[in-house]
Amino acid sequence: VVEQFTESVSFDWRLWPYDIQGSIAHARMLGRQGIITREEARKIIQGLKEIARDIRAGRLAPRAELEDVHMNIEAALVERIGPVGGKLHTARSRNDQVALDLRLYLRDELEGFTALLKGLLQGLLQQAQMHRHTPMPGYTHLQRAQPVLLAHHLLAYGWMFLRDLERLRLLKERLDVLPLGACALAGTSLPIEPRQVAQELGFSRVSENSMDAVSDRDFVVEFLCWASILAMHLSRLAEELVLWSTQEFGFLELPDAFATGSSIMPQKKNPDVAELVRARTARVYGALMGALTMLKALPLSYNRDLQEDKPLLFDAVDTLKASLQVMAQMLPALKFRPERLLQAAQEDYSTATDMAEYLAERGLPFREAHKVVGQAVLKALRAGKPLQALTLKELKALCPLFEQDVYQRLSPQASVRAKRSRGSSSPQEVARQLRALRQALRRKW
Ligand code: ARG
Repeated sequence: VVEQFTESVSFDWRLWPYDIQGSIAHARMLGRQGIITREEARKIIQGLKEIARDIRAGRLAPRAELEDVHMNIEAALVERIGPVGGKLHTARSRNDQVALDLRLYLRDELEGFTALLKGLLQGLLQQAQMHRHTPMPGYTHLQRAQPVLLAHHLLAYGWMFLRDLERLRLLKERLDVLPLGACALAGTSLPIEPRQVAQELGFSRVSENSMDAVSDRDFVVEFLCWASILAMHLSRLAEELVLWSTQEFGFLELPDAFATGSSIMPQKKNPDVAELVRARTARVYGALMGALTMLKALPLSYNRDLQEDKPLLFDAVDTLKASLQVMAQMLPALKFRPERLLQAAQEDYSTATDMAEYLAERGLPFREAHKVVGQAVLKALRAGKPLQALTLKELKALCPLFEQDVYQRLSPQASVRAKRSRGSSSPQEVARQLRALRQALRRKW
């Protein structure tokens, strides 16, 4: 019962490539420093490489009674090269070993996430490019507010994902510390040289405090924070896809490959993919809360509690990766319906603000302009007609500043064209955003 309760190899086995990579670097340093002979180091490294080959070929499987990935690989080494294999663990503990493995693992995953995120952003830019001139209603309070361009709406997500990329780069810097050399918690009396190991493994810094080195999991928490923010962004986008694909909105058609049917209602096409992306955000948040809670009030230095970081981290990695993958493929395949978007932007007096700005341009204080247009909207609403159907005479009765040219301001297209401010929904600003995001994507991440 205890064996089953304490083992971790059922989930930490995925660390084996990093465990071997770290051990090879450690053995080489031990040999160079004369802590073991060079011949012993060579034998150990050779053995580790063979073990990696065997695992990859499916010839070596982990055994639960050996507890974790570290013990499994060490046992395989001793089995292969004899008692000299036991020298690998000189000046090392599983405490600094697992801290190293986890950093190496996450560093690799972050490269994958960088590529996935860039792919997602690319898909988004593709849609934005296609809909540079497609007006739609922009919302506040989920009420139609003012016309915007669909590209503008999509690019808002583009900037969120770009920030996610930026945050990802910061994470990579934080990961860039070698914990090996801390041993169990206090360091070692043996003449090790962690900087050699750091260099071989591509770390630019070595941990400054051995107790911190073995008990720090800030980088896991930071990753989960990052993952939670990205998952939150994905869930917002997913939610809009769910809404927009309803008959009520009708803004887009889900590609068949990304929609599912109902087992009872033959007419249905359901947005399950977007719904699951939305839902799985909860799992990522759960991992973050789990990690924070596991670490809360944990005394220094290593405690077995820390083993529990892995199921949380791995689940969040897998979950987020899958969501990113499917969203990156679904986005470019979405079929928006420009005619429906335009129609919706024409309804509900969404250019009333343009009318008020028209009066403000002519000197009326905006507060008063707001009031005048409010009356115009009311009048149109009571007559059951759109704003542009009010006659000039009717408008002039509300405010003498109205002239014939006000009608040119009342279409969604005119509304977006009239925007001037930076970051607004004008076609020029949207084009600028597209260029800026494309350029950002070309940077080295
Ligand atoms: N499986 C352990 C973990 O994941 C490795 C470290 C074990 N250390 C120990 N002193 N029992 O944290």
